[in-house]
Amino acid sequence: MSSADLSVSGGRILLNGELRSLTLGITDGTVSHLVEDDTDLAAEETLALDGEVVLPGLVDGHVHFREPGYTEKEGIESGTAAAAAGGVTTIVEMPNTIPPVLDTERLEEKEKLFAEKSRIDFALFGAITDENVGTGDISALAEAGVTAFKTFMATSFGPLLMDDKGELFEAFEEVAATGLPLYIHAEDEEYLDLFRERARDEHGTDIAAFFSSRPPIAETTAVSDVLDIVDETGTETVIAHTTTAKALDRVATAREDGLPVHAEVTPYHLVFDEAALRQIGTRGLGTPPARDAANREALWERLRADEVHLVGSDHAPHLLEEKNRAPLEAAPGMPQLETALPSLLDAVASGKLTFGEIGKLYAERPARLHGLYPRKGSLQIGADADFVVVRPDEKWSVDADAFESSGSYSPFDGKTLRGNIYRTYQRGKLIAEEMNTLVQPGQGRQLTPE
Ligand code: DOR
Ligand code: ZN
Repeated sequence: MSSADLSVSGGRILLNGELRSLTLGITDGTVSHLVEDDTDLAAEETLALDGEVVLPGLVDGHVHFREPGYTEKEGIESGTAAAAAGGVTTIVEMPNTIPPVLDTERLEEKEKLFAEKSRIDFALFGAITDENVGTGDISALAEAGVTAFKTFMATSFGPLLMDDKGELFEAFEEVAATGLPLYIHAEDEEYLDLFRERARDEHGTDIAAFFSSRPPIAETTAVSDVLDIVDETGTETVIAHTTTAKALDRVATAREDGLPVHAEVTPYHLVFDEAALRQIGTRGLGTPPARDAANREALWERLRADEVHLVGSDHAPHLLEEKNRAPLEAAPGMPQLETALPSLLDAVASGKLTFGEIGKLYAERPARLHGLYPRKGSLQIGADADFVVVRPDEKWSVDADAFESSGSYSPFDGKTLRGNIYRTYQRGKLIAEEMNTLVQPGQGRQLTPE
């Protein structure tokens, strides 16, 4: 009889897009067995489930912790605790910290902080601005192990802005030479300049100002520009947090033409529309804005048509006092790691989504894109035994005060969701139970593209 360190039986395991009644065996932190549930598998430790769903640990390719520079908003210890609680076992962290990750020296500083403080496995982004284009820093960062780059076409938060199209073009060329993907915040800064002033004149401090200051045209124009650049440079590109159905349609057409472009959507933009956020207030605002209800439904339609390619949380906490400002001054972004999977489970419960889609969009594809597959992103034999056990029918209410994140507010606060997270495991080890994180800092391993 075969044996393992840990066996997980009685659950429904997501494998190749389907839920299967299998027993999972884990040896030395990796998946060693996937056997029919009635097969005897000797194991030192057993987890006997009762029909719960076992998903691969989620791979969140888009989170902002704030260390170094803004640790009061979120640190690596609290941010990775939030990830573990939320069923996320691998994160790729964004580079808009202070100082931004523009060269290998800053990358090394961040790597040291993560080695000491991260509770879960991690990879890091490199940043691109006019400061490091043409300096050799981009290829050096790729050599040093970043899994992707990020650039901002518009002001959002932090010191990174690339609003010059010539420089942007050069950045795409340089990233293409590394073979790594480029995530882009696609809003057109010139339009934002115009509409911000109009919004201020027309709406003053009413929350309507926020939505009209960043209209859909700012996103759709920027996405069209990006697609034209990708057509010339061939750079693998991710439109980060795409919010409009029109932009998704343009990406879909570009992919039909063979362009290596992917659309990422956040769970937040799938759940909230402008009307809901007007009620919630400035603490619920992020950029680009959520649009109207018809657009939100259109995002779901595109998702079901496989025209949304990735889900990322865009976890981006700020202090509550930075959120509670006039709408045009409020810091954009909020804690998302502890509500992303629960909100997707709720969508499964209401028939909008399948577990297979969660695994594909929020584990396998981000793992592939960041060069972490097959070690991460699925529960196939040989993969790291990262998994999350969920109870699809349990109803519960979000309590932002209970978050592991330093940010204890959320547009989901008080919302009742169906489907909760029972346990999270990394490399066969229990790291969170009932959304309380158990794993200590320093346990995370750095991942570089395979
Ligand atoms: O809402 C946002 N917050 N959007 C972004 O693009 C950046 C992020 C942040 O870092 O705060
Ligand atoms: Zn972001």
